[in-house]
Order: sequence, then structure tokens, then C-alpha cells
Amino acid sequence: MKQPQCLTTNRDVVKVLPSLNYMNILSKTLKELKQEDSDDSFYICNIGDIVKKHLYWLQSLPRVKPHYAIKCNPDNMMLKSLIAMGTGFDCASKAEIRQMLELGVDPKHIIFANPCKQASHIRYARDNNVSLLVFDNEDELKKTKKIYPNAKLVLRIQTDDSAATCQLSMKYGAPLDACEGLLLSAMNMGLNVVGISFHVGSGTSDSTAYVESIRNSRKLFDYASEIGFKFTLLDIGGGFPGTTDVELSFDSIANDINKELNDFFPMKSHSHVKIIAEPGRYYAASAFTLVTNVIARKIGETDDVSDKACKGDSNVAMMYYVNDGVYDSFNCMFYDHANPKPSLIYLSDKRSQDGQCYPSSIWGPTCDGLDKLNDCLYLPRLNIGDWLVWSNMGAYTVAAGSSFNGFKTKNTYYFISELDLSLLKDHVGRPSFLSSSFSFEDFQCDEYQSDNPLLDINGNKKSQSLSFFAKCIKSKVSPDGEIKSGIAITATM
Ligand SMILES: Cc1ncc(COP(=O)(O)O)c(C=O)c1O
Repeated sequence: MKQPQCLTTNRDVVKVLPSLNYMNILSKTLKELKQEDSDDSFYICNIGDIVKKHLYWLQSLPRVKPHYAIKCNPDNMMLKSLIAMGTGFDCASKAEIRQMLELGVDPKHIIFANPCKQASHIRYARDNNVSLLVFDNEDELKKTKKIYPNAKLVLRIQTDDSAATCQLSMKYGAPLDACEGLLLSAMNMGLNVVGISFHVGSGTSDSTAYVESIRNSRKLFDYASEIGFKFTLLDIGGGFPGTTDVELSFDSIANDINKELNDFFPMKSHSHVKIIAEPGRYYAASAFTLVTNVIARKIGETDDVSDKACKGDSNVAMMYYVNDGVYDSFNCMFYDHANPKPSLIYLSDKRSQDGQCYPSSIWGPTCDGLDKLNDCLYLPRLNIGDWLVWSNMGAYTVAAGSSFNGFKTKNTYYFISELDLSLLKDHVGRPSFLSSSFSFEDFQCDEYQSDNPLLDINGNKKSQSLSFFAKCIKSKVSPDGEIKSGIAITATM
């Protein structure tokens, strides 16, 4: 078997290109996979997207230090990029804490943010000096008192998460009328409570929940100081969007949060209060693009299509089978209420299109009828061996994926543009970590000759300059990497 010339299976390698565009990356990567006789699905990760998201966070929420929620996507290279830039981390379990410690994170940059913890996981946190622990009930206080009496505790309060796609408040967060009692109990047990946290739910469409929760937190800060605690931490949780196709933009959430923080935690009187957040999807969503292979096809009659609206004028209906499904990356359709659609089609050979689109359904590879990704899309005619490209697949996808039926997307290939690499180098909090943990290699490829066209899902040919650039940061960070207004880079590790 021929060795691939450019692609490497070494996951620590990041390929550097003059500029990122789908055409070059896909054509080169797929050509090399073909040489390996591989038709496996894979991820493309744009490390530059993570870098720019972080810079944009620092600029938009200058008082809030992000602690990435690793449950969202525990990809090691993504974590290493964030470590290099100096974020903290939100861990939910012993395994997540261990992963971060093994990557060299200082335990003081970890918050163990699961309010209902397994006893042995608390012991592990204690033995490894992870001291910041979240709680929301009396029994957790008693458990912590026994195992880790000198932990720094953070009380998670309930929020109105009715506007969130993924609600959490039915499970976590102390009801507001129970909070004072919990703080008193903690005081009576001699425990050290250092602050308040909340989570407005993931994928929220209304920033009122942040506003109200910041106000509620301030009331509890005041009460805590009356009974003798000196609070030093406010944790505003997650819920920030990672893409632009959302009802409530990141900018608008950030504006509302900044205003509330200035009103209720003014710098002047609250400079001793550290403000953190636990963003997950904000960092992960747009950095990862999934590429799946069309492994099988059935051409049927539209009479077989149950959805009448889907049939249109066509007599033919297509069923396409791809090699990742709801039991792996597309578990987000169930657990994260996501509705992924392919954004691009990469044809496996040089052929002309008839310009027609057909009612098409897309199915995952397992033998379960539930494993359906799209019911009714109008797609150009695809052949077995073509590739479907799914963007924005970084959040809550691989993290909960299984290998049911033996199918698993295993490989991720990492890329960064030269400009984004220089941004990363300029703003790196830990230069030594960057040089010891990453290997940057030039991705040498000739400008691709467009004989295997890239199509949008309507069958229109796409240009070669399609960029991976994250849309949601376009307004403040220009495509050439220039940051338009004054930015305070405060990476602190
Ligand atoms: C405690 C906690 N923090 C942070 C997050 C990340 O949330 P998001 O991805 O909405 O930012 C979650 C998600 O479930 C969570 O449970």
C-alpha cells in the first residue's frame, strides 16, 4: 500500500496552510484517503476557529474568564489549544479532571462543576488539589464535609431556563428560596463557600435568564457577607451560541451580561470577585466539520415517500446511506435537539450534473430504522463514494457518540491558516506548552484543479476560496486576522 504523502495519523500534528479553504483541504485529504483505500468518515478541525473564538470572547466579555466545559467535546487538540491560550476548564467527573491534569493543567484552573458528585470523584479532586467544587443541596454539603472539608464551594442556583433548547434547571440548581438556608447550613458545618454559579440552559434564546441570575447572585453575595462569608467567585455558566444561525446572538448576550455585571458587580466595589463562565458549544461548535461517505444508495419511486410535501414533481426518490449516524456523531439530534443538514457535497469523480434535484433521505449506517439523519432534502443525484460535508458539528457530537454496530468516526485532521497560527503565537498564555505540545507542519498542496467539483446542496458548484472562517466573529476580527478594536488579552496560565 502506498504511504499517504501529506496526511498523517499523528493526532498531534496541525497542518498549516496559507489560507484555509474547503476545496484544497478536502481534495488533498480525500486523495490521500483514496491512496489508503479508506472511505471512512472523518472530522476536519480548524484550530484557527478556536483561536479566534477565544480572542473574540476576551474582547466581548473582558471581565469573564472562560472555563471550557469539556463535556461538550473533549478532543485533546482542542483542549491543548485552549490550555495554550490560558482558559480554565469545567470538569464534570474524575475522568474529565484526570484528562485535564494529564494535559498539564494547573488544578487551580479547574472547576468541578457537577453539583451531585460521586464520593470517589470528590476524593480524587481532593487528592489532586482541585479545590473548587459546585453544590446545590444539603446532602452534597454533608458528603463534602466528610471527604473534603476544606474545599472551596460554589452554590449553584436555579435559573429560569424555559427559553433554552437543553434545559437543566429541573435537575440542577438550588431553588432560590432554599439558597439562604443552604448557605447557613454550610456556615454551621464550618465549610468554605466562596461564590455562586448558575447555568441558563444550553442553546438559550433569551438573555433575561442571565440578567435575572446575575441579580439573584448579587442578593446572595449580600446575604453571604451578612452571615460571615467573603465571596470571591461568580460563575455565569454556559449557554453561549457557537454559530450564527441562532435566535439570540453571542454579541447580544455579551452586551446584556456586561451591563448587569457593571450594575450589580461594579469593578470599583467588586474587584475582589473573580468572574468566570463555563462555555461549551461556544468554543466547539464551528471548529469541527464532519465528512461522511455515501456508502450505499437506493433509488425508489416517490410513491414510497410517506411525506407528500416532499415528493414535489419528481417520480424518483433517493435514499442515501452514510457512514456516521445517530449512534455516533449525530446523537446530537436526540441529546442536543440538533437538526444537522449537509452543507456541501464533494463528488468522487469528474462527471457532469443534470442540474436536477431529487427528494432524498439520508440514513446512518447502523441496522436500526431510527438511524435517519434527514427525511426530505432536495439534493442533486449522488453516487456511492461521494462525500457529504456537515459543518458546525463540534458541540455535543463525538462526546456522546458510541460505536454501535461497529461504526465510529475515529479520525480528526487538524488545520490552521498561517495567519491564525501567528494569532495563536501572539496571544499564547503558555509559549512553552505550545512548543512542547504541538507539531506544526506545512500542508503542501498545489492549488486544486477543480475536476472533482464541490457542490452546495442545491447542486451549484462552489468556488475554491470557500473559507472555514467562523462567521460569528467576522464583525470584529477581520479575515486577515486583524483585530479591529482594542482587545485586552489576559491569558493567565
Ligand atoms: C455545568 C455545565 N456547565 C457548562 C455547560 C456547557 O454549556 P454550553 O455548551 O451551553 O455552553 C454544561 C452543559 O450541559 C453544564 O452542564
